[in-house]
This record gives sequence, C-alpha cells and structure tokens, in this order.
Amino acid sequence: MNFKKKILCIGAGYVGGPSMAMIAFKCPDYRVTVVDVNSERIDAWNSPQLPFYEPGLEDIIKKRRGKNLFFSTDIENQIRENDIIFVCVNTPTKNYGAGAHMAADLQYWEKTARQILKHSRSSKIVIEKCTLPVKTALAMEKILSSSRGKIKFEVLSNPEFMAEGSAINDLENPDRVLIGSHETKSGLKARTELTEIYQRWIPSSKIITSNIWSSELSKLVANAFLAQRVSSINSISALCEKTDADISEVARAVGTDDRIGRKFLNAGIGFGGSCFKKDILNLVYLCRHYGLDEVAAYWESVVKINEYQQQRFIAAMLHSMFHTLAGKRICILGFAFKADTSDTRESPAIYITQKLLSEKAELVISDPRALKNAAADLSGAEGNVQFIEDPYEAARGCHALVVLTDWSLYRMLDYKKIYRSMTKPAFIFDGRNIVDREKCFAIGFNVYAIGKPALTHL
Ligand SMILES: NC(=O)c1ccc[n+]([C@@H]2O[C@H](COP(=O)([O-])OP(=O)(O)OC[C@H]3O[C@@H](n4cnc5c(N)ncnc54)[C@H](O)[C@@H]3O)[C@@H](O)[C@H]2O)c1
Repeated sequence: MNFKKKILCIGAGYVGGPSMAMIAFKCPDYRVTVVDVNSERIDAWNSPQLPFYEPGLEDIIKKRRGKNLFFSTDIENQIRENDIIFVCVNTPTKNYGAGAHMAADLQYWEKTARQILKHSRSSKIVIEKCTLPVKTALAMEKILSSSRGKIKFEVLSNPEFMAEGSAINDLENPDRVLIGSHETKSGLKARTELTEIYQRWIPSSKIITSNIWSSELSKLVANAFLAQRVSSINSISALCEKTDADISEVARAVGTDDRIGRKFLNAGIGFGGSCFKKDILNLVYLCRHYGLDEVAAYWESVVKINEYQQQRFIAAMLHSMFHTLAGKRICILGFAFKADTSDTRESPAIYITQKLLSEKAELVISDPRALKNAAADLSGAEGNVQFIEDPYEAARGCHALVVLTDWSLYRMLDYKKIYRSMTKPAFIFDGRNIVDREKCFAIGFNVYAIGKPALTHL
C-alpha cells in the first residue's frame, strides 16, 4: 500500500506507544512505526501481552498493528525511511554529576539526536514529544545542523499532555494539542504539516500554536500546577486532622468556586508517577540556573509537602498501632501510582512499603495490575513480603489494611467478610479516602483517613 505520510516515533514507552497507536488509528492512510532500543519492549508490543496496562489500548493496537502500525528495533533504517520523526525517549532526573537529583538527564535524548543526524539521507521534521527543559530544541538544532550538509531538519515542540490511566481518552479527546515552532517560513510549513495530522480528529480550535520555548516551558508548568494543587489540598489535610475539620467538606466548599474548580482536590498520600516530581525539580533547577531563587524555593516546596504527606501517613500508622509494627501483618491495597495503570514509577507505595519494612512489618501486597512491577521495585528490600492479587486472600490474618491506590475495586470490597478474616483489633488506613468510613467503623474497624477525624473503637 502507498501510504500518504510515513511517521516514526523513537521511544516505545508509555507515551510513544499509545500516542502513535492513536495516530495510526485515526489516520489509516499513514504508516506509523515505533522503534526502541529495548528489544524486550518491542517484542511485547508485537505480542498479545502489551508492555503495560492502559484501558482501551489493547483494542486500538489489535485494530492497527501489522496494517499501518509497526513496532521495530531497526532504528537506523527507520530513520532513513521516515519523513516525520517524533522523539519520545525517557528524560528522567539526573542522578549523577552537576545538577544531580534536580536537572533532566538528557543523555537518551541527545543520543537520539545524534542517531537522527547519522542515519538521515533526506530532510526531516523532528518533533520533541518528550518533556524537556526550555531551550532544549536549540541544542537539538545545533546537533542536527552540525554536519552542514544539504539535509535540513526542522525541529518542533509538541509536548504530550495525556495522563496514564486515561491515556486513550486523553489522546482521542485532548483538552488541547500544543505545537511550538519557529516563526520562520520553514518552521511554519512544518507546523502546518503536524497540524494536518492532528486535524484528522481534533477540532482546529483545540490545536494551539506558540513559539518553541513557550511550548517547552508550558509542559513543565502544566505538570507543576497540577502537582501544586495536590500539595495544596494535602497541606490543608494536615490542618484538618488537628482541628476536626473534614478535608472532603473543605475541598467541596472550595472547589465549587468556578475560579478554583473541583478537579485535583482529593487529599491523599500524594502524587507519584514518572513525571510530576521530575518535571518540578527540573523547573526548580532552571529557576536556580537563571538566579530566580525565590521562584525555585516556591516550586520546591510542592515536592517537600508531597514527601511530608507520606511521612505523616507512616507516623500516624505507627502511633495508632501502639507504636510498633514489628511482626504485624499488613495488607497493602494498591501499588500502582494511580488507578487504571500498571505503572509504579515513583509510586508513594514504594516509599511507604519500604518504611513499613524498616519497622519490621510483614507485608502482603495486592494490586489488580501492578504486582509484577511491585515485585521488581521491592526486589532489593529486606523483610517479609508476599504478593497476592486477590484482596480477600491478601487480607486474611492481617492486622491492618492500607489503601495506597484509588482502584475503584477497593470501594466495592466486602469489608465485612474481610474484617472477619483479620486479626483484631483491625485497622484501615485509607491513603486515598475511598473507603466508606462510617460503614467500616460500624463493622468493627478502626478507621483512619487523610484529613478526617479518626473513627476508632480503642
Ligand atoms: N508517562 C507519562 O504519563 C508522560 C506523559 C506526558 C509526557 N511524558 C514524557 O514523555 C517522555 C517519555 O516518557 P515515557 O513515560 O513514555 O518513558 P518510558 O521510559 O516509558 O519510554 C521511553 C522509551 O525510550 C526508549 N529509548 C531511550 N533512548 C532511546 C534511543 N536512543 N533510541 C530508541 N529508544 C530509546 C527507552 O528504551 C524507553 O522504552 C518523557 O520525557 C516524559 O516526561 C510522559
């Protein structure tokens, strides 16, 4: 078949896979290829067992794979053959050298730029889809123009705003698509070419254009604002616990103000995931680099409140379980960093379970999708840990249930049945405020939630 456009994505991760699957789904006349250095990941994309769980993803992959959607490790040839290249590699926080634990580690991104330069035999549009520090496109352009040949590269910024757990819906019905380009003739031409892809299914009013630097910075700022809302409500949850106010009632009263809005106001054990923390730290690093120390301190406090919330949670558990967890069996309900994903990167569950293990608690970890990742995350941890998917089985004989992920499954469990099988006095620590507190208290549990008075029989 003669395809109208040939698109390549370098990086077959949580963003590259779903976002390219959506383009292939919406544009059956385009050929979309996703490449990765990780051959295990590519094998998984080509198998019935995809590399991670994302609602609706399997359905789209099955419809387009082998028709106009391909997964490959042949990076060199694919760079040669494609005209439009999305770069979707990982940009984690640097854990060495200058800027360690703050700045973005750009080694994977730079390697990709050099690969594109080395293997290209014709001009191409290169699109930054990964999240990068502002002005990174400039570095990409410098690398790509270093050979001074006839081949021209136009670099665009097109950050991805999808969220894991709702990625397919977010990609199909995004709030906006952002395209940053140079305002030059070739920059505007490349921008039009990318706009035409998205216009296949997204109304033009939702396709926003800007200069490249605004586009790069907007992604960092969007994540910083989202994380800041989580930390804001969590900071108030601490005050609620001291004053008998209820955080859900406060959030409802505050969120009904149109200027504030209701979303992202659920108090809990804090944000996780691969992006929020790394993107804020990246923003903090950039501010410090430009001498904006007060601005840096403001955003850094968002991360500090997140850590404080998790420390508080552990301290409350210790306090209410008679100051010792040693030898107590504790059932962890949920290890994924949020519901509807198997991703556990930066999940609060990692920190919390490690702390519980250091208190010599025995852990039984349950999660409907993330047990494989949980086992990998805790592989080096010392202590007694079991992994049991069935929550009823996992809770049997435990002293406490600890809800760490907002899976809807945990709202609907038969807590009466669970209570009967547990050691008494039985405790629930609800780190996501999803359990019916009154009902569980009536069953006999001692119930502790975030930002709410404890309901206890003790
Ligand atoms: N995960 C999210 O929810 C999300 C949302 C929006 C934006 N982002 C951003 O998107 C980018 C990718 O995130 P992700 O979660 O998909 O990461 P990921 O780690 O899941 O995937 C990145 C992939 O790139 C591959 N890779 C690295 N270097 C390569 C190279 N030189 N050639 C080929 N493949 C290479 C890795 O093997 C990996 O499979 C990051 O910048 C992230 O900040 C992520």
